[in-house]
Amino acid sequence: MNIGVLISGRGSNLRSLIEAQVGGQLSAEIATVISNVPDASGLEIAASHGIPIKVINHKEFDSRKNFEGALNKALILADIDLICLAGFMRILSDTFVKNWRDRLINVHPSLLPSFKGLNTHERALEAGVCFTGCTIHFVRPAMDDGPIILQAAIPTLPQDTPETLANRVLQQEHIIFPLAVRMIAEGRVKVEGNVVKIEGASFHSAPIINPFE
Ligand code: GAR
Repeated sequence: MNIGVLISGRGSNLRSLIEAQVGGQLSAEIATVISNVPDASGLEIAASHGIPIKVINHKEFDSRKNFEGALNKALILADIDLICLAGFMRILSDTFVKNWRDRLINVHPSLLPSFKGLNTHERALEAGVCFTGCTIHFVRPAMDDGPIILQAAIPTLPQDTPETLANRVLQQEHIIFPLAVRMIAEGRVKVEGNVVKIEGASFHSAPIINPFE
C-alpha cells in the first residue's frame, strides 16, 4: 500500500509514520510527502529518510480548485492508495474529499466529535473535561467529521496548561496514527455507515473515574 502524507508544519506525526515504516510496523510505504507550506520542517524529516517530497503552495494558485487539482495530480502520479493528513491545515473541498472517500484519513487532537477545529486543548481545559485525547478518522466533507477508526483517551490534570496537555496528547497521536495505517494496510478496516469495524481488534473494557477520591 502506498501512502501519501500531507503536512503543513512541524511533522512530528509524519516522523512517527516514518519510524513505524523503518521499524517494519506500518505494512505500507510512504511514497510521497506533500506540504502546502514551503518551509514546513516536516519536509526535511522526509527528505533525510530518502522519501520523495513536494511543495504545492496554495498561495501560488488562483483557486482552491486549481490547488487541489495539482494535489490530486501529484497523488495519482505517486500511485497513492491512502492519504494521511498529518497536521495538514487546509480545508479540502467536498469534491476532493468525495474523490478520496475511505482513502483519506486525518489525525485530530481531541476526542471527536468534541472540540472540532482549532485550539482544542485550550477549549478542553476551559470546558473542564476530565478526559481528552486524539482521534484518527476517515475524512468526510464537514470539518473534523467522519467515521472514527481509533481514539486514545488521556486524563486532564488540574495543573495542565494547553501546552502540557498538547504534549501528552501528541505522544498518543504518535502511537495511534501508525497503528491505524497498519490496520488499514492489513485490510482489516471496514466502514459500515458511519461506523468503523476492525477485524481482530482488541478492546479495553475497564472504566476510569477521575478524580477518584
Ligand atoms: C497535531 O497535533 C495534529 O493532531 C493537529 O496538528 C498537529 C500537527 O503536528 N491537527 C489538527 O489540528 C487538524 N485538525 P505535527 O506537524 O507535529 O504532526
